[in-house]
Amino acid sequence: MSSSPILVVKNLTTTFITGRGRLPAVGGVSFELNADETLGIVGESGSGKTVLSRTIMGLQPRSNVELGGSVQLLGHEIVHASEDELRTIWGTEVSMVFQDPMTSLNPVMTIGKQISESLRVRLGMSKADAKVRAIDLLKLVGIPSAEERYDAYPTQLSGGMRQRVVIAIALSCSPQLLLADEPTTGLDVTIQAQILNLIEELKSKEKMAVILVTHDLGVVATRTDRIIVMYAGRIVEMGRTRDVFFNHRMPYTRALLESTPKVSNPSHTRLITIPGRPPDLYNLDGGCAFAPRCAYATDQCRQEAPSLQEANSDGHLFACWNPLPVGTSPLNQQNSNEPNGASNEQ
Ligand SMILES: Nc1ncnc2c1ncn2[C@@H]1O[C@H](COP(=O)(O)OP(=O)(O)OP(=O)(O)O)[C@@H](O)[C@H]1O
Ligand code: SF4
Ligand SMILES: [Mg+2]
Repeated sequence: MSSSPILVVKNLTTTFITGRGRLPAVGGVSFELNADETLGIVGESGSGKTVLSRTIMGLQPRSNVELGGSVQLLGHEIVHASEDELRTIWGTEVSMVFQDPMTSLNPVMTIGKQISESLRVRLGMSKADAKVRAIDLLKLVGIPSAEERYDAYPTQLSGGMRQRVVIAIALSCSPQLLLADEPTTGLDVTIQAQILNLIEELKSKEKMAVILVTHDLGVVATRTDRIIVMYAGRIVEMGRTRDVFFNHRMPYTRALLESTPKVSNPSHTRLITIPGRPPDLYNLDGGCAFAPRCAYATDQCRQEAPSLQEANSDGHLFACWNPLPVGTSPLNQQNSNEPNGASNEQ
């Protein structure tokens, strides 16, 4: 298995120019992803996860957006790439799965046709070969009676089955990177677990790298090698999954962890919610964006944003002037071997 980076993101910025002014949705993000890795990107709603994902994939519309920095994806520079260049990698080298399968599927075309069309257009397969491969893909993603379901319309399938079809389309051209943005939000918990397990299984079968984007730390607890925690469009903590769960130093990471449901909690346990509201990105003031909500904030925090600094030599980084002491994660007190007893799935 190769461990060279297939994605190198350097000081990436995405700024929307809107009627209200400039909105820095992604504010200087740098990281690398190896060919055999699963990376989780977590953060509250509005923290910039989707904008970052779409910018990495070159999917950000070009009008009223300013991009800066660099994204090297499988040897292609994505920032400022032309649509023609991007088309050569979309769906063949990289694929994305979005939250709502209905927005990715055409409701008036059978699912079989949607997969085989994708194979014919992208790989130039014959009609007959594309059908055979499409049925194989439906089987691969666990759709029962794949031959009969080939002729079904998306509306005839459940939400979970539709998301499996979207994953089949995403995998149709054997991408080297699959980016799944909230792929299970809106599905019930058992189906969520099935879809996440499916992505995990396909990752090792198809030998791809995976980026899993979610607001739910439980989803990434047992399924990722590394995690990026985002706040106000920036990385505030990043490291191996175990380090983020057990040795995090940034108070926002702790707050996210405390607001994640745990299977081990008695059913009436009250979740701790993060006090205050996410920042107004139009009015960031140069200090730590988390300061208004942080119990550890000092004058220094309000005046100057902390840069990422090393917590260890394994790539664990955090941005905080007053980091939490090592080993104080609430998980260390839970006698748990698994990060967070994970997710709200059974
Ligand atoms: N096209 C756009 N024009 C202007 N602002 C935008 C645009 N797209 C996103 N934003 C803003 O960028 C910020 C980051 O949004 P983003 O969708 O990336 O958040 P997110 O972390 O994916 O949240 P969620 O968990 O709700 O999906 C938000 O303030 C959002 O309002
Ligand atoms: S820099 Fe200050 S305000 Fe920001 S998370 Fe650390 S302690 Fe809190
Ligand atoms: Mg999003």
